[in-house]
Amino acid sequence: MSKFQSVRGIHDILPEQVVAHKQVESCAQAILQAFGYQEIRLPILEKTELFKRSIGDVTDIVEKEMYTFKDSGDTLLSLRPEGTASCVRAAIQHGLLGGLLEKGQQRLWYSGPFFRRERPQRGRYRQFYQIGAEIFGHAGAEADLELLIMMAELLQRLDVGDAYTLEINTLGDLESRRRYGLALADYFQKFSHDLSEEVRLRVERNPLRVLDSKDPALQDIIAAAPVLGDYLDKASVDHFAQLQEGLGEAKIAYRHNPRMVRGLDYYSRTVFEFLSRREAEEPQYTFCAGGRYDGLVEQLGGRAIPASGFAFGLDRFVSLYREHLQATASTPDVYVVCVGEQARREVPGLMRRIQASLYRMGTARPGQADTRRPQIVFHLGDEKLTTQLKKANKLNARLALIFAQDEMDAQQATVKFMREDKAQKRISIEDMDYFAQQLLQCLCYNTPLHKKE
Ligand code: HAM
Repeated sequence: MSKFQSVRGIHDILPEQVVAHKQVESCAQAILQAFGYQEIRLPILEKTELFKRSIGDVTDIVEKEMYTFKDSGDTLLSLRPEGTASCVRAAIQHGLLGGLLEKGQQRLWYSGPFFRRERPQRGRYRQFYQIGAEIFGHAGAEADLELLIMMAELLQRLDVGDAYTLEINTLGDLESRRRYGLALADYFQKFSHDLSEEVRLRVERNPLRVLDSKDPALQDIIAAAPVLGDYLDKASVDHFAQLQEGLGEAKIAYRHNPRMVRGLDYYSRTVFEFLSRREAEEPQYTFCAGGRYDGLVEQLGGRAIPASGFAFGLDRFVSLYREHLQATASTPDVYVVCVGEQARREVPGLMRRIQASLYRMGTARPGQADTRRPQIVFHLGDEKLTTQLKKANKLNARLALIFAQDEMDAQQATVKFMREDKAQKRISIEDMDYFAQQLLQCLCYNTPLHKKE
């Protein structure tokens, strides 16, 4: 075992896992962009107070799970446990929510690492990655519906089929939650001698959070507790009915779970979770969750602007749906084999010119990366031809491009097809653009029209 190990619950994402992560990320990014969401990059550190104010003082995240420390200036900072609070803070700070009436909605998305000191287990990490989307400025159910349609589209594109469940609920407005909180507090007080000190404190300070308790001894008491549905205001009930109608129209299957309350305090009205649905006996995991948070912008110092959003847990999704993702680690298209002193001296410069020709033939504009460029890996070292070819084989390269003394003398390269039963071929290297085009043809790329720089 190596001397240094990563911190418990904090993982490395290894190259073959990165491929799966990137497949999901790029699919999500394309869909967010197609729905008009703009990317915002948010800091990893924020003042602790921001999370206390938004997520809530009496929540598992703020009470137990944040990585918090004082910096040398005595400011209390926390590693972000989620993105909504930062996104709202940034949107207010930079005036992104001004003029919403004229401009319509503000749609933002973000991604990156988040940190919670939870008990590590399958799908639960201390550093994890989320992709989040937030829509500001629309109070109607269509905004919630848009988010759910976007997620359904993503899951379809990722080939998840119907191997998931969408659960939705409504929490009502702030007043109905307050009334429900009072009813819950009354109810739990009846059992106060059975409750731990921690739970008794929650009953006093935030009774809704008692419902999140995983304590097996409390489950029967929680199951018989009053339900939120009995305390809802009429406008929230209508909002929820509209959302359900919209989901029906969009042919998105869902289940109403009247007991879903979510572990963060900022929600009002719609809340939802996407859960894995595999074999009946398997535990279910939430891989995406969100809802409406109409009071949060004002609570953090902005105007009263309604908002809604979700966050998608990348690591959890990839670990649950690995077999649905076709991502495979990339293998070289071309392995460059060099034998002899002259070839080893001259071919690196030659390869640089080939790359430039390939770039010109791609579709990218100057300054852009051309993701369609073939992967060309150079053999480092002066081993014999057979050893270098064995290496190309091991890496599962499609072609080996051989430069030995014979090729150098003739100003040619030999193309050896590593995966197909085809005769090898010689290509002149005197005109680089011609050479690049021939190489692309050997790779069965559609050779684009010759573009001069
Ligand atoms: P959340 O339910 O706390 O909501 O997290 C959203 C998703 O992040 C979870 O469903 C899960 O997939 C992933 N996640 C959370 N904690 C962990 C963990 N310890 N390990 C692995 N994955 C995890 C939020 O964060 C809200 N900000 C969502 C939101 C956006 N609501 C409105 N806008």
